[in-house]
Amino acid sequence: MPWARRFSCRSGQHQHQHQHADAQSSNGASNTDATTHFGFKTVPEAAKETLVRGVFSSVASRYDVMNDAMSLGIHRLWKDHFIRTMAPAPGARLLDVAGGTGDIAQRFLDYQDTVNGDSQASVHMVDINPDMLREGEQRFAGSRWLQQERIGFTVGNAERLDFVEDNSFDVYSIAFGIRNCTHPDRVVREAFRVLKPGGRFMCLEFSRVTNPLLAAAYDLHSFYVIPRLGEAIAGDRASYEYLVESIRRFPPQDEFAQIIRDAGFTTIGCGYENLTFGTVAIHSGYKF
Ligand SMILES: C[S@@+](CC[C@H](N)C(=O)[O-])C[C@H]1O[C@@H](n2cnc3c(N)ncnc32)[C@H](O)[C@@H]1O
Repeated sequence: MPWARRFSCRSGQHQHQHQHADAQSSNGASNTDATTHFGFKTVPEAAKETLVRGVFSSVASRYDVMNDAMSLGIHRLWKDHFIRTMAPAPGARLLDVAGGTGDIAQRFLDYQDTVNGDSQASVHMVDINPDMLREGEQRFAGSRWLQQERIGFTVGNAERLDFVEDNSFDVYSIAFGIRNCTHPDRVVREAFRVLKPGGRFMCLEFSRVTNPLLAAAYDLHSFYVIPRLGEAIAGDRASYEYLVESIRRFPPQDEFAQIIRDAGFTTIGCGYENLTFGTVAIHSGYKF
C-alpha cells in the first residue's frame, strides 16, 4: 500500500507535523497582521490554530459522549448517511481529515467489510490535535484493521498536507472539521491536490437552517442548552460556546459549494444535500 509506506501508521507512532501556528495570507505569504474569527471573537490568524487545538484537547476525552448528548444521538445517523452517500468502491483509499476520534474511519471500514466484502480498502486519518487522534487510535487498538495496516494516523494540518503525495487518494472526507480551519478555501484546494483524477471530495458540516421557526428553536438549543451540557458533561462551557459560535461563522450552503467549485471540483450531479432541515449539509465534488 503506497500510503502505508509514506506514512507512519502504527498505533502510538504519530507523525507530528505543523505543530506551530503560523500566519499566512491567502497566497501563502507571511502576513502577521491578518485577523480571523474564533467563534464570535476576532483573533490574530497566528493564534487561531493554537486556540482551536486548545478547545479539542480540552474536550477530547468527553468528545464522543458530548456528541451524543448535544445531538440526542442524531450525529450517528448523519454520519451513517454520509458513508452511504459516499458509497465507496471496493479497495478505495480514504483520507479522513480532521478525523478526530475516528467515527468516519470506523464507518468507512465497516461499510467496506459488510457491504463490499472488501479486505483491501484503507483509511488514513489526519488531525491537527494529537489528543483527539489518540482517542481515535485507542478505538482501533487491537482491531484487525490495524493489524492489516488498513488504518493509519498522522498529526497534521488540513491546510498543509505536504506529507501527502499529489493524486494519491480515491476519496477525501472531512466531517465537522472544516469550520474550525482558518482558511477553508486552502483546505479544499489541498483536498483537490491529494485526490486522484476521478476522486471525490466529501464534507459533512453544520450549515444553515432556513425555516425561521426551526432556526429560532435551533438557536435556543445552541446558545442555551449546549454550553450548559458542555459544562455539566465535559466541565468546559467555553469550548462549547466556541463550537456553537463557529457554526454560525461558517459559510452557508451555496457559498461553500462555490468554494468547492473554485478549488476545481465539479459539483454537477452532487452539489450538496441538507440533512435535518439544513442543520448539517453534505457537500461533495469530483476531481475531473
Ligand atoms: C468536531 S471534531 C470532528 C471529528 C470527527 N471528524 C467527527 O466527525 O466526529 C473536529 C476535529 O477537527 C480537528 N481540526 C481542527 N482544525 C484542524 C486543522 N486545521 N487541520 C486538521 N484537523 C483540524 C480537531 O482537532 C477535531 O478533532
